[in-house]
Amino acid sequence: MSEPDGPIVRLRGVTKTFDAGRVRALDAVDLDVDAGDFVAVVGPSGCGKSTLLNCIAALDGVDEGEMVVAGHDLCGHDHLDEFRAHDVGLVFQLDNLLPSFTAAENVEVVLLGSVPRSARRARARELLEFVCMGDRTGSRPTELSGGERQRVAIARALANRPRLLLADEPTGRLDSATGQRVLDLLESLNTEHGTTLMVVTHDPQVAARARRTVHMLDGRVEPEQPA
Ligand SMILES: Nc1ncnc2c1ncn2[C@@H]1O[C@H](COP(=O)(O)OP(=O)(O)O)[C@@H](O)[C@H]1O
Ligand SMILES: [Mg+2]
Repeated sequence: MSEPDGPIVRLRGVTKTFDAGRVRALDAVDLDVDAGDFVAVVGPSGCGKSTLLNCIAALDGVDEGEMVVAGHDLCGHDHLDEFRAHDVGLVFQLDNLLPSFTAAENVEVVLLGSVPRSARRARARELLEFVCMGDRTGSRPTELSGGERQRVAIARALANRPRLLLADEPTGRLDSATGQRVLDLLESLNTEHGTTLMVVTHDPQVAARARRTVHMLDGRVEPEQPA
């Protein structure tokens, strides 16, 4: 698909409620993210950060507003399967790896249906090598450390070569040194491959690495101070 003009993420008046409207997790959010940017999303617990990422990833629908991500009109239900399969990758705080599968199988599973079997194995190995896990392709999640599991989760999120990578507190459960290595990896994706990064974080060290910080409060994106 050709690169769309303008921002890779464009939200206008996006509102998302839970509990029959009692909780306004997102309240008329306007947000533009430029292709190739590295954005940290910060704010207190419960302010809507995870909801924002889940909506941008089309994992969850919104009540109101316009949302165009990587050229897809997510509110108009424009090829959502294609969008999820090709344009966006997601990394969560907990790695969500399948426990009975090896590292390689956890990566391969997302290539089912889109990549032939023989190529899946090679692609999984290449991705695991990229995250410095090439020697652990046969290990199961229980045999890996938290940082190693998170690197497998990043390899899995990159399997479809997404232009936009969304990460929800990816270092939240890691010690500081391990967290730094995961961040190095995310940052190299941004600087070397041009992947647009949106990272939700509580960690000032993570936010300090981003080129831009989006502050949220009570379901709203706070106006940014001019530089
Ligand atoms: N599936 C859900 N059902 C009901 N309420 C939810 C659900 N997901 C999130 N919320 C509520 O929406 C608000 C925003 O949550 P969330 O996006 O998880 O915040 P954050 O990630 O910033 O901590 C909170 O009040 C939370 O309780
Ligand atoms: Mg959250």
